[in-house]
Parts: sequence; structure tokens; C-alpha cells
Amino acid sequence: MSYPYQIKSLSEYQEAYKRSVQQPENFWADIANNFYWRRRWDKVLEWNFKEPKIEWFKGAKLNITENCLDRHLETLGNRPAIIWEPNDPEEYHRIITYKDLHLKVCQFANVLKNNGVKKGDRVCIYMGMIPELAISVLACARIGAIHSVIFGGFSAQSIADRLQDARAEYVITCDGAYRGQKDIPLKSVIDDALIACPFVKRVIVSTRTRTAVSMIKGRDVWWEDEIKKIETLGMKDCPAEEMDAEDPLFILYTSGSTGKPKGVVHTCGGYMVYTNYSFVNVFQYQPGDIHFCTADIGWITGHSYIVYGPLSAGATTLLFEGVPTWPDAGRFWQIVDKYSVNILYTAPTAIRSLMGFGLGPLQGKSLSSLKVLGTVGEPINEEAWHWYDEQVGKKKSPIVDTWWQTETGGILISNLAGVTPAKPAHATLPLPGVQPVLVDENGKEIEGNNVSGNLCIKFPWPGILRTTYGDHERCRTNYFATYENMYFTGDGALRDEDGNYRITGRVDDVLNVSGHRIGTAEVENAINMHAGVVESAVVGYPHDIKGQGIYAYVVYTGSHGGDEELARRDITATVSRIIGPIAKPDKIQFVTGLPKTRSGKIMRRILRKVAENELENLGDTSTLLDPSVVDEIKKGKL
Ligand code: WTA
Repeated sequence: MSYPYQIKSLSEYQEAYKRSVQQPENFWADIANNFYWRRRWDKVLEWNFKEPKIEWFKGAKLNITENCLDRHLETLGNRPAIIWEPNDPEEYHRIITYKDLHLKVCQFANVLKNNGVKKGDRVCIYMGMIPELAISVLACARIGAIHSVIFGGFSAQSIADRLQDARAEYVITCDGAYRGQKDIPLKSVIDDALIACPFVKRVIVSTRTRTAVSMIKGRDVWWEDEIKKIETLGMKDCPAEEMDAEDPLFILYTSGSTGKPKGVVHTCGGYMVYTNYSFVNVFQYQPGDIHFCTADIGWITGHSYIVYGPLSAGATTLLFEGVPTWPDAGRFWQIVDKYSVNILYTAPTAIRSLMGFGLGPLQGKSLSSLKVLGTVGEPINEEAWHWYDEQVGKKKSPIVDTWWQTETGGILISNLAGVTPAKPAHATLPLPGVQPVLVDENGKEIEGNNVSGNLCIKFPWPGILRTTYGDHERCRTNYFATYENMYFTGDGALRDEDGNYRITGRVDDVLNVSGHRIGTAEVENAINMHAGVVESAVVGYPHDIKGQGIYAYVVYTGSHGGDEELARRDITATVSRIIGPIAKPDKIQFVTGLPKTRSGKIMRRILRKVAENELENLGDTSTLLDPSVVDEIKKGKL
């Protein structure tokens, strides 16, 4: 596999960037020509951000799995597509070649068909990080079913919300999942979710932990039995379903500043081209390189840079089941040495947590195979950046700080490893095809350098979301209505004297906890479900490892027999039950009232400042209904 569109120098980058802005359609058509299409497009791009309506490669026909699998068989059939490292380092790893993966995806695609799944049906996938997860995703894509992967850290209630929103009638899960010392009973969580989802027709269960599960007659079947069935039926190959470039490929739920998570929809053609293009260019992937992205496939990073980007490029992608700190904090480094990993892509929160263990876990590790390091998910502080550079990259591996979002499908702003300059804590420059702008509150573009503002993108790229599932208006109001004719990211950014971007964080009510997006409104709703809670307000505060922690102010009238700690634990358990353990508040402060304006609006600015320990300069509090609550809140600060 060669990548004629791989940028090799700064001047090539500048050339490509210029062309992508001046002739976007020709630019992307040239890149798209490197893929396998059953039919070419009639038009490269049709768009307006008003509705929004965004169509890339309109009229083209393809199946993304033919690009990820079939087209590699002849030349790369025996090359590892997936290397799977189990949670327990003592357990045997698995290597799945492109030939094997093709076979397994076809087999499981037939299982799906045999269970009634059809093109356009929504399939929810709730699994641990095992090869069967990637196989499930690809098998859905093979037959044109729309996958919706749900991260294993979400609760039954969250799963039920998502199943209902997507009207998903099929579920793929495991008996359980291993994560470090934990054994998470996934099937039992699904069982709880399905109480509220009687429309689910079939649950296919893959065996991993062999924990006890209840298999409901007529609804639940074992993965392994179903494979045997299709073998008996003699179903081997599974021709790929012909998809329109703009047919949905998947839904991925993500949090916003209001209400329930929304189902971001990505489509087949544009997403494929963009994840591949960004993968090959940002990481400067060379044939034969081992790429290790430590994200979970339950998040967009796993979709784009464990599955679709690498596989469409014929790369070898490493799938790790476990966690960075088990059996010890040297696990990543042990994996890097074991497989001679060339590209390591992880999150600042993981780096900061590993830094906390000192240099011991790095001792005796060579790490000499590493060529490129990457980070994603949240701003990386300079200290963590330098530690990563010095201790892991030995100052010889460029670090790519990749800024992007679930909605963007792939990386939008990042240096290209070793090709364009890196700058600590800066995502740096936009990829070709990406036109960022900074705007002020009124949506006026802020030009020039050494400025800051709200980050928007003023022209579509092939990986941009197309809609939010079942509610196009929500997509419009969330992303395209704040500023006219622009996609609003929800992030703030600075642009330095050389035009490099530094992302400063969310400017809306979305928290980023350990790189996970969580809406404050969502957490508040969950806290308010607790019987003793009258109302609550949630804000973020700086957290050494997680980036942001969750600080909740709670008006509580429940009885707890004077035991505040117990009440806190109950509230935390409620949040775990409603959203999942990832949204548990780090701090809960009981208050008698919240600072509200006369019109009843909570003044979050004050709560944020107190949580950040900035107790002095709280700004103007004269518009508050009852300014005395502020003193109480300050006194009770945790
Ligand atoms: C944040 C993850 C700073 C940002 C791919 C964005 C970052 C949100 C970076 C999206 C980065 C992501 N530097 N901040 N390199 N990358 N973010 O949807 O606030 O889970 O809006 O997608 O993470 O999170 P999401």
C-alpha cells in the first residue's frame, strides 16, 4: 500500500493547504481516487451550513469494509491487521491477519443477517476491548447496518436511553469484560437496560469472562453457536452491501451542554476518506508500522484511529484490552517493547497518571521502536508534554497534539509528525481542507495573530457530522446556529504569532473529565434524581490527573442521620446508576441555596470560581437574589 497523498515536507503541506482552500473539490477528489468505489461520485461536495446539508461524493457507491479488508487481501493478506493484547499479560495474545479478519467479518456479517439484521437497522454494541468488538463493528458496516457502540463505562439507564433514541432492535455484547483487576458483567448491565426496551429482538453474546449470565429464550444467543450455525448452512463469504456515500455508517452518542446525549451521525464515503487521510498524514504511517492507539472503541478515537483509519490504510493496529496501570504502571511500555510499537497515541490524562508513578516503571524498557507519539482528548499541559517527549520519546519522536471531536470524525488541527513543527501544548496548524476561524461573542471573525476567541470552522471537510440521529433540528441549533454559516466547536482557542492554535478548553457547559465529555446538565439531572436532593449545580475544577474534576453543589433535605459522608455516597451511587461510573462527582458540597439571579438563573461563574479556589475575586454579586449564600458557599468549600 502506498499513500501518494502523504505530505512529506513543510512546503508540501503549505502547497496542499493552499490547494485545499482554493479548489476543495479537486483536492478531495484526488484523494478519494485512491479508494475503491463501486461507482464514482456525480458531485464532490454540496453544502450549506444553514440547514445544515452536507453531502460529499454524492452518487458514489462503496462499502467501507471493501476498502478496509478486501482490497488488501492480495498484497497484504498475511500481514497482521489486528494485534490483540489481553488484559492479563500472562494470557496469550492474538494476531489477526487481513485474511483472517476478512473471514471473521464475513462470518459474523452472515450471523447478523441470519438473525434478521438488515441494511439501515441500528445495532448497539456494548463490549470490552476484544477483537470481536472490531469484528462486530466491521460486520455491521459490511451489511449496511448502522452501528452504535456504547462505552463499557455507561450504566443500564444510559444504554436504555441510547437504544430507545436509535430504536436499535439488535444488541451485541459479551458476558463480561476484564479491565485491570475488575471483571465487569456487561451482559447483566444489558439485561437491566432491556427491561425498558422490549423492542429489542436479539442479543448476541460473545464469551470472554465466562461469568454466569442469564440467557433469555427467544432473545439471547451465543456468538459461538451462531457461527456454528452459519457454518452448517455453508455460508462463507459475505458480499458487501452496496452503500451510498451518504448512507449512515454509524451513530455515536456524545454529551452536549443541554439535555440527553445526542447521536452524532457519520456517513460512509466522507468519513472513510477523512479518517484515512488524517491517519496517514498526522502519524506519517509507513507500511509495516505498528500503530497503538490506547483509546476504547466506545469513543470516536477508537472508531477512527483503531478501526477505520488504520485498516483502510492497510496498517497494523494494536488493540489493548486492559488499563495502563495494571498489573503495574509499566504496562504501556511493556506492550511497546513486546510488539515493537512504532506509533503510540494516548491521552494527556494517561500520561499525567503515569508521570505520578515516577520513572521506576520505565526502567529496563527500551522503547526504541517508537517513532511517533500522539495525544488527544483534552489540552495537554507543558509539564506532561515534556515528560512524554523526554521519558517516552527520548526526544527523538515527534509528538502530535491532535485536536478534534466526535462530530468532526477525524483530526482537524494537529502538526504532522516530523513534517510540520510541533509546539508544546499547541495543536498547531489545521489539516489541509480545514478552515478554522476565531470569532467573538457576536460571531465576528477575529483576524490576525496573537488573538483568542471561540473556535469555529467555516468550510466543510469530508468527516464532518451530517446530523444528529432522529433530530436534525438539534444538530442545527447545537452546531450551526450559534454563528451564522459556521460550525461551532464549543471550544475556545488562542492563535499565536505564527498562526498555531492552542485549544484552551470548552466554552460551553461541557466538562472534560479524563478526556471523557460529560455535560454538566446531565450530571445535575442525575443528582436531582436522588430522593433527598432539591436541586444541584455542577461545575468543573482543575484536577491534576483528570484534567477536570466534577464539583457538585447540592441542596439537600434528605435525612442522613447527620452522616454527610453517607449522603454523598448515596448521591454518587445515584449518578453511577443513571449515567455510569465515569460521571461520578469528585466533590459534593452541601449548601442551603444556590447563587441565583432575580430571574432564577444560577450564576455558575461564581460556583466555578469557588470550585477553582479563587475565593477573592468573585465579580459582581449585586444582582443575586440572596448574596449571603455566596459567603456560605465560600466557607463550606471542599
Ligand atoms: C477536547 C475526542 C485540547 C476539546 C477526539 C473537544 C482537546 C473535545 C484535544 C472533544 C486537544 C480533544 N487539545 N482539547 N488535542 N482533543 N479535545 O468528542 O474540548 O470525545 O471539544 O472527541 O475534547 O471530545 P470528543
